Amino acid sequence: MNLAGEPRWRFAAVRSRVMVSGMTTAQGRTARGLYFLRCFLRNPREVGAVCPSTRALGDAMLTGLDLRSGDVIVEYGAGTGSLTESIWRRSREVGGLRYLGIEREQGFCRVLRERMPDFDFACAQVEDVEDLLAERGLPAPKAIISGLPLILLPTMESIVATASRVVAPGGSFRTFTYLQSSITPNARRLRRLIREHFDGAGSSPLIWRNFPPAWVLRGDRAVA
Ligand SMILES: C[S@@+](CC[C@H](N)C(=O)[O-])C[C@H]1O[C@@H](n2cnc3c(N)ncnc32)[C@H](O)[C@@H]1O
Repeated sequence: MNLAGEPRWRFAAVRSRVMVSGMTTAQGRTARGLYFLRCFLRNPREVGAVCPSTRALGDAMLTGLDLRSGDVIVEYGAGTGSLTESIWRRSREVGGLRYLGIEREQGFCRVLRERMPDFDFACAQVEDVEDLLAERGLPAPKAIISGLPLILLPTMESIVATASRVVAPGGSFRTFTYLQSSITPNARRLRRLIREHFDGAGSSPLIWRNFPPAWVLRGDRAVA
């Protein structure tokens, strides 16, 4: 849902977008948090969290990934860019990474493009990932980093299945599950789907420095 397109929200959305484009300032972070919360209140199932992920979770999502120049990294549900910041920092270290972020919410897409103009953001559905990669002539991604609230989405199974088909041999699909929802049937189903669709699966230690605390879940494809 595009908040900025609705007159009631327009002033606040424009003011937020001006403020949120500051990448590291406390003011920018606060404005992004408030904007994120507003989007959550409007669309709780698809946003799926009351506040953006922390740097600790973003860095944990990338732990152990052997990224090299020329590799493609795809992010699902980039939101206001909290996980994207970790990818952005890694791309500065590695150099030559190619990034595609997929986010359906137009207001978030505008924020992302303002914050990280050298990254490519498609304002689209992750269900179309294969077409989006093909349109850009990108090869299979080395990593798919998902910030989607997968356990709330009716398309969870097809998203995991598609990710396992799309990710490169030797590549990895990463998502996370919150502490409080980890024992729900859907969270168990998500872990089972990852085990079934990938050659290897695992999880990180609990990341306490996130609200709520979360585990990173990993599905790895074998090297061909
Ligand atoms: C929990 S937020 C994650 C934001 C950010 N990555 C983070 O961790 O803080 C989930 C994001 O996924 C987006 N989203 C949900 N379903 C989607 C879909 N099918 N395609 C693309 N984006 C989607 C929502 O708009 C929202 O921005």
